[in-house]
Amino acid sequence: MHEIKVTVNGQVRGCDGVNPNTRLLDWLRSEGLTGSKEGCAEGECGACAVLVARPDGTDRSRWTSVNACLPPALAFDGQEIITAEGLGTAPSPNVKEELHPVQREMADRGGSQCGYCTPGFVCSMAAEFYRPERVASGSGNTVSGNTVQASAEAPNEEHETDHECGPNGFDLHSLSGNLCRCTGYRPIRDAAYALGAPTETDPLLQRQDSPAPAAVHTQTTVDGAQFLRPQTMEELFERLAQNPEAKLVAGATDLGVEVNIRHTRPPLALAIDRLEPLRELRIGSDLIEIGAALTLTEIERELNGKVPLLAQLFPQFASRLIRNAASFGGNLGTGSPIGDSAPALLALNASLVLASKNGERTVPLSEYFTGYRQTVKQPGEIIRTVQIPLPLAEKTAFYKIAKRRFDDISSVAIGIAMQLDEGTITSIQIGLGGVAATPIRAQKAEQVLLGKQWTPEVAAEAAAAMATEGTPIDDFRASSKYRSTMLGQVMLKFYAETQSANTLEVSK
Ligand SMILES: Cc1cc2nc3c(=O)[nH]c(=O)nc-3n(C[C@H](O)[C@H](O)[C@H](O)COP(=O)(O)OP(=O)(O)OC[C@H]3O[C@@H](n4cnc5c(N)ncnc54)[C@H](O)[C@@H]3O)c2cc1C
Ligand code: FES
Ligand code: FES
Repeated sequence: MHEIKVTVNGQVRGCDGVNPNTRLLDWLRSEGLTGSKEGCAEGECGACAVLVARPDGTDRSRWTSVNACLPPALAFDGQEIITAEGLGTAPSPNVKEELHPVQREMADRGGSQCGYCTPGFVCSMAAEFYRPERVASGSGNTVSGNTVQASAEAPNEEHETDHECGPNGFDLHSLSGNLCRCTGYRPIRDAAYALGAPTETDPLLQRQDSPAPAAVHTQTTVDGAQFLRPQTMEELFERLAQNPEAKLVAGATDLGVEVNIRHTRPPLALAIDRLEPLRELRIGSDLIEIGAALTLTEIERELNGKVPLLAQLFPQFASRLIRNAASFGGNLGTGSPIGDSAPALLALNASLVLASKNGERTVPLSEYFTGYRQTVKQPGEIIRTVQIPLPLAEKTAFYKIAKRRFDDISSVAIGIAMQLDEGTITSIQIGLGGVAATPIRAQKAEQVLLGKQWTPEVAAEAAAAMATEGTPIDDFRASSKYRSTMLGQVMLKFYAETQSANTLEVSK
């Protein structure tokens, strides 16, 4: 009989008897690891952040920060987790316990007052501290112990330092999912920017040189609730065919909120986040294929700017903590009219490969949504792959109108992909989210634009048409009038940006 166990801070802990609906955070706290805190239970505050050893290619692993309040504890069977208690803990009983460099900097620079948010901050900060790209490029500045002697007079030449990236290559977006109510962010940023490179003997750095733990064939039923991590697509399809009402669990960033806030209790949870066929990304000559269970962070890293429209989308999608878990499959699987990937992928003319026990079929994304949170996906079917045809249009942009710049839900989201031939618009796709019961194409504006010269007059005509697209509603995020006005404004902005060459162009 398989024993369910999770390695936390180097110690193996049994997880048998844990309910499939128990979140990782609740389980950790029930084990006495109360460093991780619950602030919101819906992925917004980061007080619950922990580090997980995730695959980084086949040979290496990467400490990845995730919100513990959202995924089920059982999803971590066989995995390795570090909590705030495990950072800086002495590697052996003979060695004096010391603060981890991120904890030391937070303490020295006054980055913590009440301390409620601090365990989450240090975990997010530690993930960035160990981020292989940052480590490989060197922290550049003089390192004293683990601390950079950062100096405005001697900026690091290897990193582009701006208001979102420190002289030590520290990407402030790594903290975009962590909120602090009392300290203020400047001392926290000072701590982040003061960090040097990990020492070569740092055990967490060394851990990244070996593969992440393999996914385990977890299978358990507790109090009538079942959790299963299928090992193969065949096993997944078989179980789905038997239980069409089962819930797929990818990053659990939507599902976790459903469980915590809306008290959903799926009778069967099927974990798909580590199924290899759902985690492939291929760039062919006429198609980019993205596995539905890859996390947004993994896609962002692998594409590395090759799809400029997606490169604009990713930083605006939730926070790093959420993107480290969230997938395209989960974003499109809910059929939500306000998901951000749909308008971007509609502009990119994407299709979805839907798969089930009966085989596969390819559906253009423009035909996928059929009504409010309804799609052509049949019971027993999953989204297997997102396909983006190549070549990409030359001028593309993604705009998200929300109350906050980062980590917010869209009031309106717009993806635009335009091809010009000597100033004439030879193809145009515009995807819209937040203006109808489903994501839609802006057909009126597209009709205005296709075949015309890309002039200010045509842009103004298209903007007027855009402002009449969809049937936007009034809600707490925005009024219908505001949404319509924003649609028109975005078209004018796109025109201005294409003239000043500020839109992202596909490199040939
Ligand atoms: C704090 C916070 C901020 C957020 N910000 C944004 C944002 O800025 N923009 C945005 O669009 N969304 C946002 N979201 C929503 C969420 O993160 C996304 O929808 C995410 O892409 C869901 O992916 P997941 O892998 O976590 O899905 P899960 O939660 O694992 O699953 C969601 C649903 O999709 C189904 N599903 C999962 N995978 C598949 C598949 N392959 N095929 C079919 N069905 C599947 C599941 O059964 C479930 O019903 C936010 C969520 C939170 C908590
Ligand atoms: S408790 Fe707020 S993000 Fe998890
Ligand atoms: S130190 Fe109090 S919330 Fe951040």
